[in-house]
Amino acid sequence: MRRIEEHLRELVERPAPPGREDEVREYVREVLEEHCDDVHVDVMGNVIGTLEGSDYEVMVAAHMDEVGLIVKSITKQGFLRFAKLGGVDDKILPGSRVVILNAEGEKVPGVIGTKPPHVQRKKERRKVPEHREMFIDIGASDREEAEELVGVGDVGVLQGEFTRLASTRVNGRGLDDKIGVALLLTLAERLSEEWDEGHPTVHLVGTVQEEVGLKGARTSAFELYPDAALVLETAVAGDVPGVKEAELKLGKGPAITVVDASGRGLIAHPRVRELLIETARELDLPYQLEVGEGGTTDATAIHVTRGGVPAGVIGVPTRYLHSPAEVLDLKDAERALELAANAIPRLPDRVPR
Ligand code: CO
Repeated sequence: MRRIEEHLRELVERPAPPGREDEVREYVREVLEEHCDDVHVDVMGNVIGTLEGSDYEVMVAAHMDEVGLIVKSITKQGFLRFAKLGGVDDKILPGSRVVILNAEGEKVPGVIGTKPPHVQRKKERRKVPEHREMFIDIGASDREEAEELVGVGDVGVLQGEFTRLASTRVNGRGLDDKIGVALLLTLAERLSEEWDEGHPTVHLVGTVQEEVGLKGARTSAFELYPDAALVLETAVAGDVPGVKEAELKLGKGPAITVVDASGRGLIAHPRVRELLIETARELDLPYQLEVGEGGTTDATAIHVTRGGVPAGVIGVPTRYLHSPAEVLDLKDAERALELAANAIPRLPDRVPR
């Protein structure tokens, strides 16, 4: 659990809006280089670390990007208008603190301005403004001053530090999918230490631009065309007041996806899904089956690659997804790691080509 938490903390410190995964990519590359036989970065910016084994090839993917914002224009008074990158809920924006990565790679802090309750009209109190009506205040007093710090096209994220909550629960920004990336890195450490001869070749892939269309997964899966694939992700937890649409609970084990987006995203390959369930049972690991109605993962792009790739998803149940304050339980992450590490060597037998 310590290793997963250490990686997660490091990853949360590195903002990675879609298309600007650089800082996370460097961290992932460094860790993978310690454990893999080969590590390379492709045209899109995906990092691929390979542990050489048999001619049966497994792809394990986790996305390095997180939802974010992009600067659209700068007003005369020096405020930034912005668009969203990925599924950010307008309701959580007012009053949020942001950090923008400028062209020089500097981090420019700012806040999303709000109209104080003192001067709001009755009608305004009840309605959530659209992000188009909002603006980011970086403290500049006019356009010229703002342009010294940021430019149109610069991207950013909402701020949200990594914090340990009660017990084994943690809170932070971008846990979707930094927890998957932390698992990918811990898996690299573990597989490189523990494996004997005869294991499959494993490609550990940190993908880019998942939140804006599963793009890095699409190209890397096409290039690798693996015999099977596993995706390490978050999954929507519904164990909080007011959520009746999701069944997953924190602390009850990783989610094994049956379908997501009501089957329009992924219908997990039955052999992969069954292998995951059986492995969990044999190891006495608690697990939860996920039948999702909204949201999807890299597996959706991977499984329809070329002639098709048998694919499954292991998800860590997470609350408040796509907010700067996501919450998950490290115990579920630890069990997700056990599940993946034990299922991978069985793939060649259980999901034959
Ligand atoms: Co995700």
